[in-house]
Amino acid sequence: MKFAFFDTKPYDKPSFDKFGRENGVTFKYYDTKLNEDTVDLAHGYDGVCVFVNDTVNAAVIDRLCEMNVKVVALRCAGFNNVDMKYAFGRIHVLRVPAYSPYAVAEHAMAMLLTSIRRIHKAYIRTRDFNFSLAGMTGFDLHGKTVGIVGTGKIGRVFIDICRGFGMRVLAYDKFPAKGLDNGDTIRYVDLDELFTKSDIISLHCPLTEETYHLINEETLAKCKRGVVLINTSRGALVDAEALLAGIKSRKVGAACLDVYEEESDFFFEDFSGHILEDDVLARLISMPNVIVTSHQAFLTEEALSNIAETTVKNIVEFFETNHCPNELCYRCGSTEDCKDGKCF
Ligand code: NAI
Repeated sequence: MKFAFFDTKPYDKPSFDKFGRENGVTFKYYDTKLNEDTVDLAHGYDGVCVFVNDTVNAAVIDRLCEMNVKVVALRCAGFNNVDMKYAFGRIHVLRVPAYSPYAVAEHAMAMLLTSIRRIHKAYIRTRDFNFSLAGMTGFDLHGKTVGIVGTGKIGRVFIDICRGFGMRVLAYDKFPAKGLDNGDTIRYVDLDELFTKSDIISLHCPLTEETYHLINEETLAKCKRGVVLINTSRGALVDAEALLAGIKSRKVGAACLDVYEEESDFFFEDFSGHILEDDVLARLISMPNVIVTSHQAFLTEEALSNIAETTVKNIVEFFETNHCPNELCYRCGSTEDCKDGKCF
């Protein structure tokens, strides 16, 4: 099998080469992202392998079909960049549903601790032999209430981590997990209660029409003054302009962002010698209480290896059996209800 691999980064190649070689899948690596202008690079390939900021819209799907490309192999869990409705009946979409929920949940906690204990400031200060503690006062996580939106794989690992710190958990999920609510330290509540009672809010739900701009002017108004927001899920869960206004008004105490709504224009690339055109992102980054990482939460050795292994396994399984349990179904938006993999 031959796959055109888009948006390649140096850290992708070793594990994809290894698992590809072992399983008879070859990858042609392209630096460019997949979109309407670049889709022709997939000519002559059995499939495309894409990541979070590649575009798989109707025009791209049509062109892939014209070129007889049969499979879109996502090397990620989220699929909001794929027009699933349009893909149905036209092209098969495979994904990696889980590769390391620990990688993302641990990154969320790393950002939270960095932010509230001012580690990012201390690192710079001590390198300059400035040992002053002025302005470095943080707060204990122990006894604080964390609101978790989305109690799937990552959300639940993050809950475990927070419980290790002695935090109380208020959770919200459209489909609550059985047995998680213990009526005491972990409780399912409605979104309003989560917003009004949480000291820290962490987002672990997918981006859908329903969750688009879940954090906006109105919902921020319900939050406690000084609330800390963590977003390691998808940028468009947060209305960035409303967040910026919340930071300026001191309503938001700190924000830890691994994702940003317009990230596809910037993230994963080096813009250090350029003028950043996005004023909202530039202003957010300039804030002392905002930490931005560029969609880095997944980036651990374990996750990279699992991503490559599952992607290659998906491809081999699909081409050998015409069946893959990790094929996405547009109806349910996941493979959960499609255990037979017959999405079309
Ligand atoms: P998951 O599918 O295991 O869990 C998602 C949870 O969100 C489910 O329990 C689901 O019921 C819930 N949910 C669905 N719609 C909802 C709604 N409207 N309101 C509240 N909850 C809702 O997914 P997983 O693996 O935990 O990943 C969560 C998100 O993390 C992904 O959607 C993805 O966007 C993001 N992610 C980010 C990465 C990064 O590097 N920053 C890496 C991997 C995932």
